[in-house]
Formats: sequence, C-alpha cells, structure tokens
Amino acid sequence: MNAEIDLQEAAKQHLWLHFTRMSTYGTSDIPLIVRGEGPYVYDDKGKRYLDGLAGLFVSMVGHGRTKIAEAAAKQASELAYFPLWSYAHPAAIKLADRIASLAPGDLNRVFFTTSGSEAVESAWKLAKAYFKQKGEHSRYKVISRDIAYHGTSMGALAVTGLSAIKPDFEPLPPGGVRVPNTNFYRAPEFVADDEAAFGIWAADEIERAIEREGADTVAAVFLEPVQNSGGCFPPPPGYFQRVREICDRHGVLLVSDEVICAFGRLGYYFGSERYGYLPDIITFAKGVTSGYSPLGGMVVRDEIMEPFLSGTSTFLHGITFAGHPVSSAVALANLDIFEEEDLLGNVRANEAGFRSTLEKLKDLPIVGDVRGAGYFYGIELVKDKDTKETFDDDESERLLRGYLSHALFDAGLVCRADDRGDPVIQLAPPLICTQEHFDEMEQVLRATLSEAWKRM
Ligand SMILES: Cc1ncc(COP(=O)(O)O)c(C=O)c1O
Repeated sequence: MNAEIDLQEAAKQHLWLHFTRMSTYGTSDIPLIVRGEGPYVYDDKGKRYLDGLAGLFVSMVGHGRTKIAEAAAKQASELAYFPLWSYAHPAAIKLADRIASLAPGDLNRVFFTTSGSEAVESAWKLAKAYFKQKGEHSRYKVISRDIAYHGTSMGALAVTGLSAIKPDFEPLPPGGVRVPNTNFYRAPEFVADDEAAFGIWAADEIERAIEREGADTVAAVFLEPVQNSGGCFPPPPGYFQRVREICDRHGVLLVSDEVICAFGRLGYYFGSERYGYLPDIITFAKGVTSGYSPLGGMVVRDEIMEPFLSGTSTFLHGITFAGHPVSSAVALANLDIFEEEDLLGNVRANEAGFRSTLEKLKDLPIVGDVRGAGYFYGIELVKDKDTKETFDDDESERLLRGYLSHALFDAGLVCRADDRGDPVIQLAPPLICTQEHFDEMEQVLRATLSEAWKRM
C-alpha cells in the first residue's frame, strides 16, 4: 500500500531525522540512500557514493552481504524472538561465548543491549550496582574526557563530554566529571613537544579528578581507545597503562567504550588489545553486526560478575530486545566473515597506506592535522597552519554546514564534517577497503577542501 508514495515528500512530512536541523530540508532534498554493495552505497537516482564512514562507523564487512541476510532469515523463521529475561536462546549463547573468547583477559561475561547508548548506560549502572554489592555505597561518579561522545540516553549523555548537546535535557543524572582529552595537536604548551609527557599529564589529570572528587565517590572512568568526537585522538604512548595504574590505586573501574573501536576499526577485535590495557568493562555495538541488525552490549571481567553469582543478588536491569535472536545470528555470521576474509589482517596491512594517502592532504593550507589509527582518521581543518588558529563559529558554520558537508556528498563521498570540537573531517570506511578506495577519498577531499579554502 505504501509502494506508490513519493518518498521525498513523505520523508519531509513524517520522518524525523536524528541530530538534524530539519529546516535545512525545507528547500532542498533529503538524501535518499536505497542500496549498498561492498564499500559503496547508491541513492534513489542511482548515483554511487563511497561510504567513507561505514554508515556511522558501522558497516565493517561492507554492504550487500547476502550470507548475513540469509542467517537473519533463517533465525527469524526458527525463533524470531525470545527475551533474555530468565531464558536463553542458542544464538545469544553462541555469540556470548564467541565474544568472550575474543575479548582480552578475563572479560568473560557478556550482557547484551540493543545500542551503544544502552551499553554505556548499562556499564554505568553496573559499576554503581557492583560497588553497592561490595558495600562501597558512595561510589557513583563517572569520569570521562572533554568532547568525548558516549551516547544520548540520559545516563550516557551525563557521561558525554560535549557540553553543547546537553542544555536542552538538563538536569541530567548527577556525577559526570570531565578531564582533558588527548588531542596532542592542541596539547598545553609545557608538554607540546613531548607526546609521552603529554600522555602522563593527561592520565594524571584523571588521578587529580579522582582525588578532587574523593576516591570513595568515583565508580568508573569511561574512555574510548581512540576518542572519536573532536576528530580521532589516539592515546599517547603509555597513557592507558598509567590510567590503569591510577584506577587500580583508587579502586575505580576502567570502562573502555569501544562502540566504535571494537570489531576491527583499529585492526583488532577490541581497541584495548591494540593499546595493551585490560579494562574492567568493554562496551560495544555498531561493528558487532556490521549494522545488518541492531545489537550492543558490554563484556565484563569475572571479578565484576562475581558478586552477582550468589544468593539473591541480581543486576536489576534489562532490555526487551537485547541479544535479539536475529541480531545475534547476524553477529555470528558477521564474525564468520571477519575470519574468512581476515579483515583484521586487511586493516593492519593497509592502515599505513591509508594514513600516508590522507597525509598527502597536508600540503593544503586548510589541513592542520591528520590523525587516527587503523581505519579511523580525523583531518583537522585550520585557518592558519603555522599558528593552528581555528575557525570562529560563523566561519565554521559556513565552512562545514554551509559548504563541506554537501560538497563532499555531492562529490560522491560519505564522510563526516564535524565541529563538535574543532572542525574536522572524519573517515572510518568499511574494513574491506584497499588503496583504490583511499585514493578515491583523497581525490574527493583534495578537490573539495581546495574549493572550501578559496571560499573562506
Ligand atoms: C563511543 C560511543 N559510545 C556510545 C555511542 C552511542 O551509541 P548508539 O548511537 O548506538 O546509542 C556512540 C555512538 O556513536 C559512540 O561513538
């Protein structure tokens, strides 16, 4: 019955786009993506785009994988739904077993959610509940980094370090505490020439925050292996090792928010593995299914689970669709592809090529910094390369919203032009990409950024 509707018109009338100024589409068309194949997606007019952001850091194995679609169909016909509330089903059991076997150290217990925000929300709730079980009733605060994005539900938003997206929803749950992020390009002057010293300073800021707040009030530190928001901040050398020591010293849990960084984005199943630290809880979502069906979760250390394994103790938390049979079956099929095609190997073999291809853009006057790891890069745009002067709000608005976002898309590249921190372009393509795709990105970026510079 819906077949005949005008999709453009119906979208404008009835669909509410996320994080989107809907007024933008009063006069212009909403981009309609109708299908995908490999690292490319196609719009309703048949135009092809390189999916340089894997949708939203999601499509690890690329688009159009019929094997995953078939696994979903098989599971839906066998058992479409049953909850994980007091029951289990084979797909969730197999997936939990598989994730536990891939996760580092003794992170052996998987609690499923349907999204990254729910995973973060669940991790904070678990940290609080765990300390209550242990008799440390006053620990509830969570420390996270400035500009870091950890999701939009109320708890996850309180963990999020982007002040601009909070005021409409205040008051938020109390207890969110901010520390500096690891943007070495904009490091304070006294450590600007020494990345290791910068890392120690940034880690020690976490300890200072714990001491300032009172260690007995702090439950957890939430950090991404490579911070997304602000434009891909990799950790300085030694940063996570020092953070781990600090957390241990003060009895605070370390949560690695790997909603973006898990499942291959950094060339490893888990980002913490790449940087050699053992978190107490890892949150994941996105790449676990490559987006063929929604799923998220957290994987936790034995010690965190332990208080919930005896007597009447219960983690009083659950989500109807968490660990959904179809999503779990999809995740298993997705992980099969990871193995069959050695996608982690592909990222590790090609990431240097990706980096050096993007670094060619540094000859443009507008490109201040290229940073990231694996298949996850940010390009920081500046007004003056020598002084690192950034664009003011008006310029940033004209540059990113007024020009770059549309121009990059029109030129056939899906990526993200973001000014939640300093203005950046972000790239996180499917893990199947190779040099030809990096070259394509570079060419589009070169032409579009050159034009943007002329217009400033
Ligand atoms: C690090 C991190 N945590 C949490 C989230 C929230 O995930 P979701 O949008 O699935 O709720 C995101 C989303 O991008 C994220 O990048």
